[in-house]
Amino acid sequence: MTERLHRTDRDLARAAEMLRAGALVAFGTETVYGLGADARNPQAVAAIFAAKGRPHFNPLICHYETEDAAFAHVEAPEIARRLADTFWPGPLTMVLPRRVTCPVALLAGAGLETLAVRVPAHPVATRLLRAFGGPIAAPSANRSGGVSPTSVAHVLAGLNGRIAAVIDSGLCRVGVESTVIDLSGDVPFLLRPGGVNLEALEAAIGPVQRGISPARAETSRSLRSPGLLVSHYAPALPLRTGASQAGDDEALLAFGPPLPGARLVFQLSAAASLNEAAANLFEGLHWLDAEAPKLGLRQIAAMHIPEHGLGLAINDRLARAAAPRDRDVQARKQ
Ligand code: TXA
Ligand code: MG
Repeated sequence: MTERLHRTDRDLARAAEMLRAGALVAFGTETVYGLGADARNPQAVAAIFAAKGRPHFNPLICHYETEDAAFAHVEAPEIARRLADTFWPGPLTMVLPRRVTCPVALLAGAGLETLAVRVPAHPVATRLLRAFGGPIAAPSANRSGGVSPTSVAHVLAGLNGRIAAVIDSGLCRVGVESTVIDLSGDVPFLLRPGGVNLEALEAAIGPVQRGISPARAETSRSLRSPGLLVSHYAPALPLRTGASQAGDDEALLAFGPPLPGARLVFQLSAAASLNEAAANLFEGLHWLDAEAPKLGLRQIAAMHIPEHGLGLAINDRLARAAAPRDRDVQARKQ
């Protein structure tokens, strides 16, 4: 059963305690209800994907109480600060490069070097963030494919029994998701229209590009994910899935007892837990990418991952990494 909490200090303290323990808590924001987890806890972030039943890992938005707290985790150019001063707290999400010291779990950003950050304007969200004292990763609090929820009833209709608690936060004033703007490239780029309109953004910072940029179109083609605006992290090394043995020139991405013979092994989960494997996945791909070449290894062999629960999302990510990529995309990575 999902516990229904209220807007009292006592209940918000309890919600913060649940988040600290790695549990999932849905809470109201001014846009839609979010499904929150401690952004620094990879297993808690993995649990978000399990609860939503998402067949793939989307990068999630990290919520902060203040602009200073957000910009402590990402590099903020002048225009980001100007947008923050104008629109935060509020329905605007900025995609910015992670700082090297950023403690947010890689899974929250789907392994990307950028992170989406936002300071919500809803008293419950603000009080929860303050009580918790850290970043909260939160997608909209609906099952995958469902409609974004704007009331407790919507949240419970999709997620009752799948999450620890929901905080009754009243209705969501804006009712549509936040506007997502990518400020990590040369020009500001609109990734998702939302609560802050384009005209208002452009009044603050000048022209904002929209549509699919040539770079993104190429990346999404090469990753075989038409329709995806976000380029996802893929290892530079070639990868093969469902390995039943490891070759001499291969590093092993293990799940459960490792195959014998590999000189370099990253263990996703010794106990063969899909939640733990999801939590470690991007850490593992980054690590193998960095370490394998040092030993002269040229490929990653990934062991079989069962195709249920979070295994679907893990296998989706591995299949994308294993898909043949355009030669020019390969060349740019070298
Ligand atoms: O209003 C909102 O934004 C709500 C409330 C809960 O804050 N959250 C929300 O999250 O809509 P979600 O996960 O449903 O949508 C996040 C969007 C996705 O379109 C995702 O692709 C994009 O943000 N996004 C997140 N991180 C990104 C990144 N590093 N680069 C590009 N896009 C990113
Ligand atoms: Mg959503």
